[in-house]
Amino acid sequence: MGKPDDMDLSVEFAGVKMRAPIGVAAQAPFAPASISGKKLAELLLKHVEAGAGYVHTPYTNVELDHPKNRLPTGRFLKAHTPGFGRSGFWVAADSYRIEMRLDESLKLVDSLKKRLPSDVPVIANIMGPGADPGGWAELACKFENAGADIIELDVSCPLPASAAGAVESFSSAEHIPEHAGMLLGDNLALTRAVTAEVVNKTRLPVGVKLTPETGFPRLVGFAEQLKEVGARFITSVNAPLSVAPPDIHNGGKSPYPGLDANTISPAVGPWTRYLCYRNIGTISMFVPGIDQAAVGGLVDVTHVIEAMMLGAKICEFSSGTLWKGWGFISDSLNYLRQYMLKQGYRSLEEFRGLGVQYIKPAEEIDWGLGRLTAAIDPGKCKGCEICANNLCWAITMNENNKATVSEQDCGACALCVAICPSNAATLVEAQTPQREEEFYARYLGQ
Ligand SMILES: Cc1cc2nc3c(=O)[nH]c(=O)nc-3n(C[C@H](O)[C@H](O)[C@H](O)COP(=O)(O)O)c2cc1C
Repeated sequence: MGKPDDMDLSVEFAGVKMRAPIGVAAQAPFAPASISGKKLAELLLKHVEAGAGYVHTPYTNVELDHPKNRLPTGRFLKAHTPGFGRSGFWVAADSYRIEMRLDESLKLVDSLKKRLPSDVPVIANIMGPGADPGGWAELACKFENAGADIIELDVSCPLPASAAGAVESFSSAEHIPEHAGMLLGDNLALTRAVTAEVVNKTRLPVGVKLTPETGFPRLVGFAEQLKEVGARFITSVNAPLSVAPPDIHNGGKSPYPGLDANTISPAVGPWTRYLCYRNIGTISMFVPGIDQAAVGGLVDVTHVIEAMMLGAKICEFSSGTLWKGWGFISDSLNYLRQYMLKQGYRSLEEFRGLGVQYIKPAEEIDWGLGRLTAAIDPGKCKGCEICANNLCWAITMNENNKATVSEQDCGACALCVAICPSNAATLVEAQTPQREEEFYARYLGQ
């Protein structure tokens, strides 16, 4: 096999060729009044110089004029969990006010298309007018005419749900606001109708970006039906809604700079990764044959590889590049090439989806019951007693203040392995293995 530089990372996604499987997620800038399509194109092109295989435009609605009397409103709120470090951002913003004007968004596509290599496509991320399929299709056609290569339906933006009246709008389809986002995308009938109409009216491949608020197993039905009406891909996931935390030392006020209140706002970053994996893994299992883009909490290149092993064809960075800058893209592509070389994978196809066969319903898993037991390495045990002072009836401390396991009582739950701060606990083959029936009989005291 050759050198890392020779590795071919190109991929065909929704029928469109991309030079690399890592791209730029849709990211609405927080200063749309001062940013033009041309200016945003410059920023996106920096990501492309770093090797990105595709770019998204930020969501745009059908509105022609941004309301000039309403200033853009957006703020990043740092999330930090003591003991766990940086855990993401809350994004407090008003979807209507941070939206780029349609004419500037179309200029953005035009500027990008003039400068991008032919194998770096533009995905237009659009948020149409509420529950009006015709309006969505009209908007998609405008981006098609401007030169976009792929249409992504943003029925998942969480910002509209953080606005006043969201709960009331959600309860009635008739009241879905013009800026609907996830208020639309958690309604299968409406999302299906919008997708079908856009697919019928444009010649471009169309996909849907899901909201994580559509949890498992409902999301599987979504994917199936969207595929049925012609969606070529599913993107998982947009940000979930959360409530920004109160300042516990200041009467519950907002701890964030310049805010007089906390918001119901999207939370982005590492903690959403498992929601992304849930979607990618389960769609691969239950709805094979539809392309998948992974986004959400991918803040290390190993996350990209994990998402691909679960079936993602392409992966995109949002928080990752906000934290690390554009260099994160080139670093990740370099690592990916090295990884493939070391593992002996000659193409992305060789490892895409490999992990899906190992996702199983609980009853189909061999848990090694009766065969496996916990064991504590006395050389590593520091006698902290955390495992013994816990939800475990098999571990006690011996006279040397070392944890010891009663093999007969151990249910191999591996709590000790998960929590031991000294990595002294492991699961091993039991010295006197029991058959599963015997194990249950003992366990149940029969
Ligand atoms: C500042 C900002 C703007 C965003 N704008 C959009 C957007 O215009 N359209 C969209 O579909 N998602 C948008 N998102 C969501 C991201 O594309 C992504 O789905 C989400 O941030 C989760 O990825 P992460 O955990 O890597 O940040 C935005 C996210 C951020 C942080």
